[in-house]
Amino acid sequence: MNNKFYITTPLYYVNAAPHIGHSYTCIAADCLSRYYRNLGHKVHFLTGTDEHGQKIQRAAEAQGLEPKVFADKAVSVFKGLWETLNISYDDFIRTTESRHEKAVQKVLEILYKKGELYEHVYQGWYCTPCETFWSESQIQAGNCPDCKRPVEKIEEKNYFFKLSKYQDWLIDHIKSHQDFIFPPSRREEVLRFLELNKLSDLCISRPKERLSWGIPLPFSPNHVTYVWFDALINYISAVGSFDKNDKYQSEWWPADLHLIGKDILRQHAVYWPIMLKALDIQPPKTIFAHGWWMIDSSKMSKSRGNVVNPIEMVDKFGVDVYRYFLLRDVPFGMDGNFSEDAIIKRQNGDLANDLGNLVYRTLTMIEKYFQGEITNVEINLKNKQAKEIEEKINALDSMIKTNMGEKDYNFSLALEPIWELINLANKYIEDTKPWNLAKENKTGELKEFIAVLVKVIRKTADAIYPFMPFTSEAIKQQVGKDNISKGKPLFPRIE
Ligand code: ME8
Ligand code: MG
Repeated sequence: MNNKFYITTPLYYVNAAPHIGHSYTCIAADCLSRYYRNLGHKVHFLTGTDEHGQKIQRAAEAQGLEPKVFADKAVSVFKGLWETLNISYDDFIRTTESRHEKAVQKVLEILYKKGELYEHVYQGWYCTPCETFWSESQIQAGNCPDCKRPVEKIEEKNYFFKLSKYQDWLIDHIKSHQDFIFPPSRREEVLRFLELNKLSDLCISRPKERLSWGIPLPFSPNHVTYVWFDALINYISAVGSFDKNDKYQSEWWPADLHLIGKDILRQHAVYWPIMLKALDIQPPKTIFAHGWWMIDSSKMSKSRGNVVNPIEMVDKFGVDVYRYFLLRDVPFGMDGNFSEDAIIKRQNGDLANDLGNLVYRTLTMIEKYFQGEITNVEINLKNKQAKEIEEKINALDSMIKTNMGEKDYNFSLALEPIWELINLANKYIEDTKPWNLAKENKTGELKEFIAVLVKVIRKTADAIYPFMPFTSEAIKQQVGKDNISKGKPLFPRIE
């Protein structure tokens, strides 16, 4: 398919309610989806939930519920949040759906037939919160080297996937595909890891008597699939299927962008491309691992119990202020510290003072001087400021594209030229002193001056659409084609 843009988020675990971190990835993916749709691309935006595995089983047990019933409840919370946050996903996949389970079993069958899987007694350690296996040498004083929580000893017969045999291929692939892992620091991190460590084969099963909540291996019904091996396959199970000759077919694959947090980079940049390689399926084009939202310098996470509920933030600040804050405050890829004070600063500054004020002042002038009528006159103003504004308007799309259309997806930088335009217009109002033009009956000049502002506002409404879709719409309603309909200021100031 020409001009397609297939973008995915991680499938979030359903063991706890979504927090700001989960909302961040979906908001970023939504912003890119809206941006690419506007450019005329055929966008397919996939999100969903990861519902199998030990920690979900335990969370369900703790509530005395069947895992599926437990997951159903969680899914409605996720979907409700995405609706509130205006997330325009095209498909939501659950790992418990049969389209997915079938594909996972098919993958297992193909890999088994090809000799990519083998049986072996596994001895080692397992971290349930991370759903990750660790060797004796990797654990630290009985704890997981990643999350520092206690690991459990495991010794059991399992199935292994021949990850190690593809190590050199993967190193080559990363080196010859600059766009494969982003940002560049993450690419270096994966390469360094691959160059310094020998990959072990991946244990991809759990005996049913220890874990019943999973997809059974077709060739060994007493085992279920390891949750990561199951979940990653969603990216292909959602958009295609295997034919009789075990060939995968999809109009969307390869994914153009897997958006993830840096916590799950290894699974996406090491396990996943190797799984695909073994299946003879093309790897995704780009994996982008963004940074973490932190609270007092530790990662916001449900297991640490320092989570902030996005719904609470939306109730306090509104959806678009929240979206704007997340996308503007931290360069995509870096960690950021979350605080309500920082949101308030953005709301009062960029949103109320700059954008809100520009729109409100302009509407007020149109109301006062022209009875609410937008005259849409031709602009012939020769002054420096009007020209500078004109140039900025003309350059805006390409300036945004430099940051949104390239692989670094720098939302924060993409927003900057929009605000430069807004602030040029605000300065232009202050310097022009339109009330004097009105007093001196310079109606023609005043009309043109207002026309410049209207042009800025219309351009701004279009430009902010991917970031703040509701606000974009609200501005377009206030500044209509021929008339205004002045409502309340877009953003209240918070004292
Ligand atoms: O890892 N800051 O699910 P998960 C920014 N089921 N983003 C954050 C974040 C934070 N503090 N905390 C979480 C899983 N995220 C697996 C994925 S994919 C086939 C399976 C976001 O519920 C970020 O996108 O732990 C991170 O990668 C994801 O949530 C992890 O969600
Ligand atoms: Mg996690």
